[in-house]
Amino acid sequence: MKVLITGATGLIGNELVKLLLQNGVTVHYLSTSKSKLITQSNYKGYYWNPKSGQINTNAFDDVEVIIHLAGASVSKRWTLSYKEEIINSRVLSTRLLFQALSKNQNQVQHIISASAIGIYPSSLTNVYQEDNKQVDNSFLGEVVAKWENEVSVFERLGIKVSKVRIGLVLAQNGGALKEMLRPIKLGLGSAFGNGNQYQSWIHINDLTQIFYFIMKNKLEGVYNAVSPYPVSNKELIKTIANTIKMPCFLPNVPKFVMKLVLGEMHQILFASQNVSARKILNKGFQFKYASLDKALQNILK
Ligand SMILES: NC(=O)c1ccc[n+]([C@@H]2O[C@H](COP(=O)([O-])OP(=O)(O)OC[C@H]3O[C@@H](n4cnc5c(N)ncnc54)[C@H](OP(=O)(O)O)[C@@H]3O)[C@@H](O)[C@H]2O)c1
Repeated sequence: MKVLITGATGLIGNELVKLLLQNGVTVHYLSTSKSKLITQSNYKGYYWNPKSGQINTNAFDDVEVIIHLAGASVSKRWTLSYKEEIINSRVLSTRLLFQALSKNQNQVQHIISASAIGIYPSSLTNVYQEDNKQVDNSFLGEVVAKWENEVSVFERLGIKVSKVRIGLVLAQNGGALKEMLRPIKLGLGSAFGNGNQYQSWIHINDLTQIFYFIMKNKLEGVYNAVSPYPVSNKELIKTIANTIKMPCFLPNVPKFVMKLVLGEMHQILFASQNVSARKILNKGFQFKYASLDKALQNILK
């Protein structure tokens, strides 16, 4: 079987490629960076540039499934022009894939796109299932809603569409955990605001297994990709500190301080999303790292 991945060179993509190759899947990938293109028998890179509309359509040869992860990082300062890049990198890349498939013969049956739990309105009381229709009134809410709408158009081509709403990914090699560890390692770990906001997290290995599970079982629709046990921000910081045996007793960092430091992007740290994993569990998915302790022991060992 052959799968085409966009964003294959990123944090999640790298791990997903490893998992697919281990399982005998041949991987094609589209990269915006010519220096990242590699050609091996089971792993081949192709160039694209969603901004200029360029795409090497050989990337689609014999491909049955597309896994679409590409998108500019949301953890860089949100200037007006960078905000545009965050949206465009997702919307234009999705549109370019759609146009290429519309115009060229192909065997694609299924597209599985990354999405994010940032679509759910920040709340300390709601538990979010996939059928929730409200969108968070924030820049991230807008980004995810636009991205998901764009992905839906593949249905017009008779292609199955799945959207994976990803939570906070915990991984050894990057992402949010690496940033959180910096102050904690210096003994400067502390929660943000009152620390009660929910963090729906997921171990990167469980996340890549969810993509693989959705692909193997040809599941359509929206799936949350979060562990079944979200925690509060306080609990997350405390558990990270305990795992690496560092103290964590500083007062919480007030919101206005982080707003001064990060600008509008501070919202990421204070948004509260208690997201349910029920739907994917009901399909028979088994988490290897359901509890935060177990996930952190594995990643930080
Ligand atoms: N990590 C998380 O906690 C998390 C949580 C929720 C959702 N997500 C979503 O999941 C997806 C993958 O996340 P990740 O953590 O693996 O991200 P990542 O490490 O930042 O990688 C994203 C990849 O997207 C491609 N890319 C970057 N800028 C681009 C642009 N302007 N146009 C087209 N492609 C571009 C790059 O690949 P090339 O250089 O090869 O083109 C990059 O390797 C992202 O869309 C992200 O928003 C992640």
